[in-house]
Amino acid sequence: MSYVIANFFGNPALIGSLSLPAISFQLHTFPDGESLIRVEGSVKNKSIFLLTNLWHPNAKILDLVFAAETLREQGARSIILIAPYLPYMRQDTQFNAGEGITARYFAKLISNHFDGLITVDPHLHRVHQLSEIYSIPTKVVHAAPSISQWVKDHISNPIIIGPDSESEQWIKTLGQPYTVLHKNRKGDTNVEIIIPEKDKWENKTPVLVDDIISSGHTLIETCKLLKDPPVIIGIHGIFANNAYPVLLSFAKAVYTTNTIQHESNQLDIAPSIMQAIEDWMKK
Ligand code: R5P
Repeated sequence: MSYVIANFFGNPALIGSLSLPAISFQLHTFPDGESLIRVEGSVKNKSIFLLTNLWHPNAKILDLVFAAETLREQGARSIILIAPYLPYMRQDTQFNAGEGITARYFAKLISNHFDGLITVDPHLHRVHQLSEIYSIPTKVVHAAPSISQWVKDHISNPIIIGPDSESEQWIKTLGQPYTVLHKNRKGDTNVEIIIPEKDKWENKTPVLVDDIISSGHTLIETCKLLKDPPVIIGIHGIFANNAYPVLLSFAKAVYTTNTIQHESNQLDIAPSIMQAIEDWMKK
């Protein structure tokens, strides 16, 4: 079977490291705001890994669906979406009466237009596995090996701190002492953090690890409770509004993986994504 990678607004730092023949798209926007996608190159009978970047998903999702349908129209055999950051995983239940569960609706939309999904550490909390909401085959790439190596190489005597219960799934595999804090979220930018076991990390170097940095308030509130500014590692650095400079003012350093392109990218996830692609091709 022949495979190609198609870049649809994917992080250039990732696409350059994925060693597969590449095709690209031309996107034309008409004066009325509607768009037209053109595939450059032949995709007939090929399996496509479509790399995208779903940070700020609403602005991109319609064109992404159009790209998938255009590839299918041109004869692509299958289309596997590579979305290193998978959005809409946090509204995974109905928190208040009348709310929609967008994690499910987004999963349904992607499952309707793609034949598979590769992503990096999706926010699994009340949804325990992607297969609970995605009806297509999925593969999860973990950032833990890169984070673990980075901490070994750069931090002596670390204590990994996870700001909330769901962070335990990421930090417990890092092979370092860790502690998990309690979080009460009261609003989009209003969170309360409680430290239950302070004595566990006296005299150690705090390294705060979270999967998503969005408004930054989870980590800002955590930093305020620490004696010394920590090193912060986020898997997906969204940094809404001015979250990055504000967070930097509370921390020794803020680093992220390159699932979302940002100046804080320090941990390269490309080899792990390439491995996931190779495993997928062996199926
Ligand atoms: C949710 O629990 C996630 O793991 C993150 O802690 C959360 O998304 C961070 O959001 P923010 O930066 O807006 O506090």
